[in-house]
Amino acid sequence: MKTERGEWGSRIGFILAASGSAIGLGNIVFFSANAYTYGAGAFYVPYLIALLTAGIPVMILEFGLGRMTGRSFPLALGQVGGRVGEFAGWWAILNALIITMYYCAILGWVGGIWWEAVVGRLWQPSVAVPAFGFDEGALPNPVASFFSLISSWSNVGWVAVVWAINVAMAFWGTRSIERAVKVMMPLLWLFMIAMVLLGSTLDGALHGIYLLLTPNFAVLSDPRVWHGAFAQIFFTLSLGFGIMPAYASYLPKRADHVSNTLAVAGLNSLFELIAGMAVFSLLFAFSVTPKASTLSMMFFIVPQGIAQLGGGAQMIGALFFTLLLIAGLTSSVSLLEAGASALIDKFDISRRASVLSVAVFGMLGSVLFALPKVIDAGLNSNGTFGLTFLDLIDHYAFNYGLLVVGLVECILIGWFLPLQRLIDVVNEHAHYAVGRVFSFLVRYFAPAVLLFLIGFSAVNDITGGGLYGSDFTIDDPGLAWLPAGALAGWLALTVIGAAAATFVGRARSEDAR
Ligand code: TRP
Repeated sequence: MKTERGEWGSRIGFILAASGSAIGLGNIVFFSANAYTYGAGAFYVPYLIALLTAGIPVMILEFGLGRMTGRSFPLALGQVGGRVGEFAGWWAILNALIITMYYCAILGWVGGIWWEAVVGRLWQPSVAVPAFGFDEGALPNPVASFFSLISSWSNVGWVAVVWAINVAMAFWGTRSIERAVKVMMPLLWLFMIAMVLLGSTLDGALHGIYLLLTPNFAVLSDPRVWHGAFAQIFFTLSLGFGIMPAYASYLPKRADHVSNTLAVAGLNSLFELIAGMAVFSLLFAFSVTPKASTLSMMFFIVPQGIAQLGGGAQMIGALFFTLLLIAGLTSSVSLLEAGASALIDKFDISRRASVLSVAVFGMLGSVLFALPKVIDAGLNSNGTFGLTFLDLIDHYAFNYGLLVVGLVECILIGWFLPLQRLIDVVNEHAHYAVGRVFSFLVRYFAPAVLLFLIGFSAVNDITGGGLYGSDFTIDDPGLAWLPAGALAGWLALTVIGAAAATFVGRARSEDAR
């Protein structure tokens, strides 16, 4: 049992793996896109407030929970809140698995475009997009390359490659994850620093960086900005995924979870800041004024900027997509591990069987997100079915799912554990002890804010604000059912799956201590 669960070989291994989970596409493109949408520098203010009032306390909570119970998320929450807790834990894992499905579909596209960048096709003025009936020259690059990729079978091939790498990394558990992150994380930092240095030498780049860093307090009265900031914090820190409890459960008893939290959250935000500067310098150096959705940021806007570098484009473009790939893989593997670890804990099956079952299920889901345009590029007449579906699911799983999990864990641990037990466990080995402020944030502040934000966006959605933050609308009346369908599908899969996992088999929580 012990060997199936795993154990980190060193503290640095854990910090690299946890920060590898945190640092992902979210840091490089989602953050920049959010910051751009919400008024650039203005975004830092709610971002920092969300980090301090929810991000850091909830990470301490998740690390502490993993360590205290020695279990991954479902059974750990089960020890706190019985069947209700266990259900919440499985629900979180399934919600995260759905996020992972489209995250890995996007990573597959990153792989495909990386290849186009390396061989140079991405830097030609245009390529043909046969599935859409566009000859070469009809649609400019990088847009043409992207649509050409997602309407061809190689897109599905890349999704398979991404999942295969994930499996290879998680197959031997902590041992193989640790080995991978020890190579990948230093490379990632190196590439990112190279990128920002290159970016900042461009004419006009400083203007972008200046804009990113100049606060604008006017937008702070818009609750959507706050919702964006809290959702971004949960996503970027991998909170509400069930990942951090699993990773912390592989640590020795004497681990210092306050310092670990500060290290992981600090590395993550530092990376986000540097990445934001790199992206903004590219945007403003070439005065591309983006309609910034996250996907267009990644596949259109940044490459468009890079293309203008002329001779250097091929190298810098390859660097940018390599960066995205590494960052994304060290994140997606963490959910594969969290899911596998939950299965191992509950059903006592072998690591290989559990890694493979999570991966096969996840890969099928990724293919569903990647497939629509391959089958029928003309869906919804302009071919946005695939992206719309992805956007819709993202809207529910990202904007609601993570915040709901955060709310539930604050309530369960803050009010039912009781919280003091977790505080004692955390403080036993912490250099900086937590106390009243932590307790206030977990018990009152974070739940109140999360509840408000969830309620606010629900009302906003219901009364017709709809898919804000997304630049896709559904024009085809035949697809008007899609938002409701996506919502129903998301709820059905997560609720039924979580109920099944909770009630099939005995709760094994008794054996934990
Ligand atoms: N924190 C990651 C990021 O910023 C997101 C993430 C972490 C993630 N683990 C994941 C996404 C697992 C999908 C699956 O990008």
